[in-house]
Order: sequence, then structure tokens, then C-alpha cells
Amino acid sequence: MSSSPQSAFSTRTRLLLIMGVTTALAAVSLIAGLSTARAADPTLHQLAAAKGKYFGSATDNPELTDTAYTAILGSEFGQITPGNSMKWDTTEPTRNTFAFTKGDAVVSFAKSHNQIVRAHTLVWHSQLPSWVSSLAATEVQAAMENHITQVATHYAGQVYAWDVVNEPFNEDGTFRTSVFYNAMGSGYIATALRAARAADPTAKLYINDYNTDGAGAKADAMYNLAVSLKAQGVPLDGIGFQGHLAIQYGFPTNMQANLQRFADLGLDVAITELDVRMILPRDATKDATQSTYYTNVVNACVAVTRCVGVTIWDYTDKYSWVPSVFSGQGAALPWDENLAKKPAYTAIYQALGGIVSTTSPSPSSPAPSTPAPQNGCKVVYTANPWTEGSGVGGFTASITITNTSSTAINGWALRFSLPSGQTLTQSGWNATYAVSGQAVTATNLSYNSTIGANGSTSIGFNGRWTGSYTSPTAFTLNNVTCS
Ligand code: G3I
Repeated sequence: MSSSPQSAFSTRTRLLLIMGVTTALAAVSLIAGLSTARAADPTLHQLAAAKGKYFGSATDNPELTDTAYTAILGSEFGQITPGNSMKWDTTEPTRNTFAFTKGDAVVSFAKSHNQIVRAHTLVWHSQLPSWVSSLAATEVQAAMENHITQVATHYAGQVYAWDVVNEPFNEDGTFRTSVFYNAMGSGYIATALRAARAADPTAKLYINDYNTDGAGAKADAMYNLAVSLKAQGVPLDGIGFQGHLAIQYGFPTNMQANLQRFADLGLDVAITELDVRMILPRDATKDATQSTYYTNVVNACVAVTRCVGVTIWDYTDKYSWVPSVFSGQGAALPWDENLAKKPAYTAIYQALGGIVSTTSPSPSSPAPSTPAPQNGCKVVYTANPWTEGSGVGGFTASITITNTSSTAINGWALRFSLPSGQTLTQSGWNATYAVSGQAVTATNLSYNSTIGANGSTSIGFNGRWTGSYTSPTAFTLNNVTCS
């Protein structure tokens, strides 16, 4: 299999895909409806494919009987990952007895929907049957190699990539003391990769972990491991960054630069299990922050040539693993429990280059003429500026607009001035942005045109700064000064 994820598609499929994207992009309006898809909308995968990447989702066998669910799974995504059915406890529940029915069902779904499969996972300390954990240390290597050989041989030629080793590190960057590490030391990773390559010469072979998305000790440990494996000539093709994020913990530091340093080793990189959880209940502010996180992850992958794609860890809150593990948390995915698109979907869509067109006024149109709020408005502007060199950097701005009046606003325009040296790098989200010099006008979209009495709405955009970063200080909403 060649180095591009697109190589897993047939030539015809790729042509159709490119034609589909081209046609869609040429359409007069590309509308990312929040809850209803239109025939002309490009899918997330089509948008990603136009950038040479895939956009995928995890899935699981019980969900494949949900026809409303599979309709979206089969159409919106170009890649799927079995969430559980290729793990050791499913594929080899008792020693040397292999079960491929569930994994085969996921591969079959992928084939019938022109999707590639990221196979997950061969060697992991979790979801491991007890017979493995009970082995004498001297037996573990043979059992591991047999497992890899049997499973990877079964799927050879049918999967794009394998997460050969999953989650080898502790948070401090030391190796996790799994049954494999305890028996073989860190050399188990090279042994596993070699066995996987022997069984499936075409699949891309990955090591995959969480909390390695941004700079830190765990990411450094993964980097050092990758350097070492490459130096030994071990067959390692890529590093998977799971991307299990939470808005209450902040966005990973320097994600793009972190991905890039692995790419610079000659490795592919992929976001393999993205979700962005929050403390429930959802609200507009949390959704806006979550949208920013999704935007930032997609932007990071798009900016790194060897980032081959992004996979979300299932696409709907209906089937997310989060609530069962993190009590009181959830709403982590771009589609809600009813399979309706959330703001995070629009954020991904726009970050992949999709254009949201609305019936709201064009950027150059004057502000809506609806009455200004009688008692005013409040604006909270937050940004996370980062530095990319001496006196230059980027930032993501999140703006929460609150109508402090006792009557609803129908149609709004928020105006403010970017400090000198700052520019918008994207059209932003949840508003249409018009920029003239440093003056910015953010106008409502159709779905957030009304801000109820004492209600709020959140918008945001990405920007660049030079000199030193400061935030805008003065805002008007429909020409009324906000606090
Ligand atoms: O299949 C049994 C079912 O028979 C039983 O009735 C039920 C009762 O709890 O459990 C079912 O198994 C569950 C399995 O998912 C299948 O649904 C397990 O309890 C549950 O622990 C398991 O959770 C999976 C988790 O990995 C296990 O660590 C999640 O679905 C899966 O999404 C999650 O995925 C992991 C990645 O593999 C690695 N990275 C982290 C990610 C999230 O934890």
C-alpha cells in the first residue's frame, strides 16, 4: 500500500470523490445546516479528501443495526475504526481460538461504503483476556507474536493501518508495566511491529496513545521511542494521537508543532480517537469552546502534510464511551444523541474548508435594522494566544455575547477593532465576519439570529498577531456599546 491514505480507495472511487467535491464546491451555495443535510453539501470526508486526508469515525458492532446511524456513518466518513471488535478479548478470547466475525462485519461495512479501515488494536494492556495476563513471562512473547500473526494475517490487504501497540506509556513518560513490558521490556514494541509487518506487509503500522497530542513528558517519550525505533530499522509507519480532550482541561500545548516533529522523522501522523468532552449539561458557551477545540485539531492536521487524517471516536453522543467512564461528562461528539449536528460539526466543516452560506446579510451589508437592545449587552472575549517566533503568533478568540435587555434581539451585528498587527486567518464560526482594516463586523447566521432576553450566543475565529498580543476592549452590538 502506498503512503497516501487515499491509496486505499480505488481509482474510480477517488475520481468520483474528486468529482463530487468539485461539483459540490462549484455549487452556488454550500450550506452546512446545523440539523439537516442537503444533497449539495460535501461530506466531511469529501472536504478532507480535497486536502489529501481522510475524515473518519469509530464504530461498534451493536450500532450497525441502527439504520439512522449507519446512514450517516456510511455517507459522511471515508474511514472507520472498529471501537472494540478487533481487540484481543474479541479476536482471541481463549488461547489460539480466533474469532473474526465482529471485525469482519466492520470491514464489510467499510468495503460496501468505499471506506478505509484503521484496525485497532493488536497489543494493549486493556481488554486483554485473563489467559494472557496469567501466562508465565517466558510464554508471553510467543503468545503475542502468534496473536499478531493470526489477526494481522486475517485482515491483510483489507485494512489501511493497524494500531499495533496501544498506550505503551504512563503519564510521566515511563513505560507502562503491562504484561508485555514485564515479560520483554520495551523491546516488545519492536517485536510486535516486526511481527505485524511480516503478517501484513501493506498496512501502515502505528503506535497509538493518549495525552501525547501536545507537548509534554508523555509526548517526549513517544518521540524518543520513535527516534529509537527508526534508528533500529523497525517497521514503524506512523504515530496515532488519540485526542481524547476535555474543555475543562484546556487545549493541548503546541499540537501542530508536536505533530510536525514526528512527521519530520519520516512518519505519518493521525488523529485517531478525537472527542471533546465537557461537564454536563451542555450550553452555548461550552459548545463554543468545544467547537474551538475541534477547529484547532483539524487545523493542526491540515497544517501538517504528513497528518493523514482525523478520526472521531464515534460520531454521535448516542454511542460515546465518555459518560460511562467519566461520570457527569459527555456531549463530546459533533452529532447529538438524536443524530442532529451540533456547532462542533460546523466547526469541523469550516476548518476543512467548507463554506457556510446563509440567508443572513452578506459581510458587506449594513447591520440589521432591528431595534437595539434597550438595556445593553455584555461581551466576554477570551483568547489563547501562542507564540511562533519572535513577536509573531496566532490565537483563537471565543466571544460570548449576552443580551442584557428584557427583550429579544432579532438579528445582530457585533463590532469591534482588532488591535494593530492582528488579522483574522479564517472566516470564523457562528457568524459572518467582515473585516475592513482593523474593524471587524460579526453578523449573525440564520440559526443564531435571535438572542433572547438575558440570553447568550457564542462565536469565534482564528487570528494572527505581531508585536505583542492584546485583546480588543470595546464592542458594540447593533451600535449599542456593550460592557
Ligand atoms: O460487550 C460487553 C457486554 O457483553 C456487556 O454486557 C457490557 C456490560 O458492561 O460490557 C460490554 O463490553 C464493553 C465494551 O466496551 C463493548 O461495549 C465494556 O464493558 C467496556 O469497558 C468497553 O469500553 C470500551 C473501552 O475502550 C474499553 O477500554 C469502549 O467501548 C471503547 O470505545 C474504548 O476505546 C478506547 C480505545 O480502544 C483506546 N483508547 C481509549 C478509548 C476510550 O476508552
